[in-house]
Order: sequence, then C-alpha cells, then structure tokens
Amino acid sequence: MLRLGVNIDHVATIRNARGTPWPDPVRAALLAQQAGADGITAHLREDRRHISDRDIERLAQEIRLPLNLEMAATPEMQRIALRHRPHAICLVPERREERTTEGGLDVAANRAFLADFIAPLREAGARVSLFIGHEPAQIEAAAEIGAAVVELHTGAYCDLDTEGRLAERDAELAALARGAALADELGLEVHAGHGLTFDTVGPIAALPQLRELNIGHFLIAESVFTGLAAAIGEMRARMKAARP
Ligand code: PXP
Repeated sequence: MLRLGVNIDHVATIRNARGTPWPDPVRAALLAQQAGADGITAHLREDRRHISDRDIERLAQEIRLPLNLEMAATPEMQRIALRHRPHAICLVPERREERTTEGGLDVAANRAFLADFIAPLREAGARVSLFIGHEPAQIEAAAEIGAAVVELHTGAYCDLDTEGRLAERDAELAALARGAALADELGLEVHAGHGLTFDTVGPIAALPQLRELNIGHFLIAESVFTGLAAAIGEMRARMKAARP
C-alpha cells in the first residue's frame, strides 16, 4: 500500500502572512485526517517561517495520525524532536535563503555526524528518514548509518515536467526508479516527495518500492479552489490509479 502524508506547512504560510490565528494548520491536519490522509507532515524550520513550535506541540497532542516531523540536523531541532517524540523524523538540508528545500542531504559526506545525530532519535523510537537525491552513493550511505527510511527528492522531476523538458524529465524519473530499487534492496523503506501535483504523481506512485508520498504545496494550493478534502481525494485516486 502507498501511504499519503499531507504536509500542512503552507496553511501556516498563509496564516503568518497576516499574523492572524487563521488559517489554522492543526484544523487542516484534522480535516486531512477525516479525508483519508495516512499521516501529517510538518517542517519546523529554523527561521519558523511557517510552522511554529506551538503548532508542533498541538499537532503532537491533537491528531491521531502519525506525525512526520521534518527538520534540519541541528541541536535545537534534536531537542525539540526528543521532547515530542513524533512517529517519524525526516532530516532535510536547510538554507535560510532558499524558498523551499532545494536539494537532498549530503549523507555520504557527513556519515559520522549524521550517524551520531540520529542515534538518540532512533533510541527514542522515531523512524528516521533522510531526504536525499537518487545518487547511489547517498542511498548507500543512508543504509550504512542506520536510517530506517529514505525519502527521494522528486523536485527536479516535477520542475522538468512543468518546464516541458520531457527527455530530461524521463531521465530523472528513470534515475529515481533506479534509486528506489537500490534503496529497497539495501533494506530501506522508500518514500518520495517534493513538488508533486495531480499531473506528476502517477509515474512516481507507480514505482513499486515506494511506501509513502509526502505532498503539501500543491494540495494546499488546490484546496483554495476545491477544498482540502476534495484535493486529497483526487490525489489519492491518482495514486491508486497508478497501481493497479
Ligand atoms: N518531503 C520533504 C522532505 C519536504 O521537505 C517537502 C517540503 O517541505 C515535501 C516533501 C513536500 O513538498 P511539497 O510541499 O512541494 O509537496
């Protein structure tokens, strides 16, 4: 089965644009729960540009679904994660000046640091996921340091599709397929996400090793027009159609 994790960060982005209490990302998480999401994903950024500490506290208390906390590998975030003990922790690279998470973690170059960083998180019972590109060296390093999960970055594939660069998109998709197969062979659970839309989700959902997709920005954008439940329902239908 392919799970859908709904990322609610950009409900908080809209809220923070005006400094009001609304729209409330926890309300979005509860709605996503009713609409059939399998998990809720939230990225607590160092600069708190969308999700706040209070949001994480409320998500941990108020939702029944597994919470997947995305965060940078910093001491502050490690403390927060150990306090809330979410079901899953996805480590992502973070640069203050970026608009969104632009690349994957360089696990191969930071093996020792990341192995030490994830050890207490694993001991606390969290499933640790590393957000990486499809390069074999990154996937092998993730397995070597004891991550349970890798999340493959689908942003480049989605951008190439939007830009109509179809040959390059297909090459990127083939590399993601090889990456998913390698990760699975090495015993890692394989997730994917970033930039996915109704148009791009099918070929990714069709990769047989994938167990979870994490999707946010497009679902929140679409919900302006159709409502969140309908957007989630349509995304699920497309995921299902990709896997007969
Ligand atoms: N997965 C990871 C690791 C991410 O960092 C993000 C963005 O926060 C997503 C999935 C969701 O990406 P999008 O909002 O583009 O669907």
